[in-house]
Amino acid sequence: MKISFNKTIRRMYKIIKEYKKQYFLIILFCLLAALFNSIAPYFLGLVTDTLFEGVKNKIGIDEIYILKILLIILICYLINSVCTYFKSFLASELGQKIGYDLRNKLADKINRIKVSSLDQMKKGDVISKITNDVERLTDNITEIIPDLVYNFALIIGSVIMMFVLSKVLAFLTITVIPITYFLLSYIVKKTQKYFELNQRAIGSVNAFVEESVTNNDIIKSFNKEKYFNKKFNKESRKLANYGFVSSFYSSLAVPFNKFIGNINYIVVVGVGSIFVINGKLRLGAIQSFIQYMKDFNRPMNTIAQVISNLQMAVASVDRVYEILDIKEEAEDGNIEKFDFKNSIEFKNVTFSYFDSHNVLKNVSFEIKKGQKVAIVGKTGSGKTTIINLFMRFYNTYKGEILIDGVNIKDIKKEAYRKMISLVLQDTWLFEGTIKDNILFDKVISDEKLSRVLSDSKTKHIINSLPDGLNHEINEETDNLSTGEKQLLTIARALANDSSILVLDEATSSVDTRLEYLINSSLKELMKDKTSIVIAHRLSTIVNSDMIIVIKDGRIYEMGTHKSLLKQKGYYYKLYTSGFDIDEVKDE
Ligand SMILES: Nc1ncnc2c1ncn2[C@@H]1O[C@H](COP(=O)(O)OP(=O)(O)O)[C@@H](O)[C@H]1O
Ligand SMILES: [Mg+2]
Repeated sequence: MKISFNKTIRRMYKIIKEYKKQYFLIILFCLLAALFNSIAPYFLGLVTDTLFEGVKNKIGIDEIYILKILLIILICYLINSVCTYFKSFLASELGQKIGYDLRNKLADKINRIKVSSLDQMKKGDVISKITNDVERLTDNITEIIPDLVYNFALIIGSVIMMFVLSKVLAFLTITVIPITYFLLSYIVKKTQKYFELNQRAIGSVNAFVEESVTNNDIIKSFNKEKYFNKKFNKESRKLANYGFVSSFYSSLAVPFNKFIGNINYIVVVGVGSIFVINGKLRLGAIQSFIQYMKDFNRPMNTIAQVISNLQMAVASVDRVYEILDIKEEAEDGNIEKFDFKNSIEFKNVTFSYFDSHNVLKNVSFEIKKGQKVAIVGKTGSGKTTIINLFMRFYNTYKGEILIDGVNIKDIKKEAYRKMISLVLQDTWLFEGTIKDNILFDKVISDEKLSRVLSDSKTKHIINSLPDGLNHEINEETDNLSTGEKQLLTIARALANDSSILVLDEATSSVDTRLEYLINSSLKELMKDKTSIVIAHRLSTIVNSDMIIVIKDGRIYEMGTHKSLLKQKGYYYKLYTSGFDIDEVKDE
């Protein structure tokens, strides 16, 4: 994965910038916590000194003085804890806020980018960006930077205090530790290869298991169980071997690190003792010093950990911005309100999804208000594409689409789409109650809702559900058939009450038991409306005012059912074939 670090830091900064105040507070608490943490060990040393002097010189121990110092130490650690608490509290609050804002931004963005850009994205990937990456990012962005600040401040604080106590010992310590880190990173680099091999071995074992479980029936039917077992054995052994080597190396790091650290203690105490004997150092200073060594060592480990989290956060920032950077839908039209009165017209419309191949070629037709128009043709001939352009999902076509003589691109999308109800073959019900699904955020009177239900023939379906209209729809408790769901989407279109109705194969996946119901509810839906219907079963469209026959993206024939049959052309062939129209051979 290649990450442009500069760009990413800038993006991270952009995210942080919006929450400057909260961030400043968090950093402030970090610094305070580190400061008080660095003061305390110095006073601990003073306690030791007082005890030592008292015993050595037989002058008695100044208990009040010791108590005072202990109180100071207590206060230091108390402030440290309180500051850490506030820092953590503010950081998690801010993290959630950033996550909330980012998710909203992303969801909003998804609604505003072009359908053609969405086509090119993998759905699973988009979902994982909005959920996983945002979470990883917000977890890290509010933890990492404060953690880095806190730990750096601890290191600086302890280094300063070490120099205050003894320059020689401080120098010894800060030279040994970097050497350790250098050696450690050398080991890590050396072993990286085994980690990668281990990761890959895990991947292939997983793939193998998935393959042999999903295709188990085939394996059994070919009597290949032994063969597969042997193969699996080999992969599994590989994993075991790499797993051993990589975990061995990583377990090596801890004792190695500890050993070097302990050597350092020995050196400091040894050299320190000589200084004490020569009267160059207080005894308590050694004790303080060892505490500071810990405060110096621990943050080093934390920082290494934090930096690897930073890398993950950086990857997530980039992934989230892959969505945020997408160009949005082109300029919208200016006409705020539109009332459809006369006709819809396609004028020489030519279109391709990609530059290469024209899916629609010079398509022209006119639909008068109130007409019922059908579009007929084989799968892939371009029917849905006509609808996609009419819905303004794509706007890069040549030619014009007019409504009452006005170019549809000149009308505001919201006003435009308000005029149209679209029912698709894929029924889409979202999680929520049946009522939510039918109303889709629209407010209608109870009377009207009840009429919608009876017109759409959904009343008996809803009544048979335990909670009726308040029945919750979700994936687990899904007990509606495809046809029933389709009826609900028709009810939704009815409730929407728009003047133009578009049905794209809305009845294709419905069983015959419900087809009658759906057809009669559609009739209700289409009453007093202009409709464009795409249907695979030609029997359902014979009563249309106009039938447009599409072949390979061109209008091949156009007319009423009667006139088209009379022509004895392509439509005649499709209609009389008696099979699925996709089975009809083109000449
Ligand atoms: N989003 C898309 N991106 C690229 N090509 C597409 C897309 N949608 C449809 N096509 C192609 O356009 C042609 C017409 O498709 P479509 O209009 O869906 O046909 P129909 O609805 O008549 O079955 C087909 O060749 C199809 O592969
Ligand atoms: Mg289609």
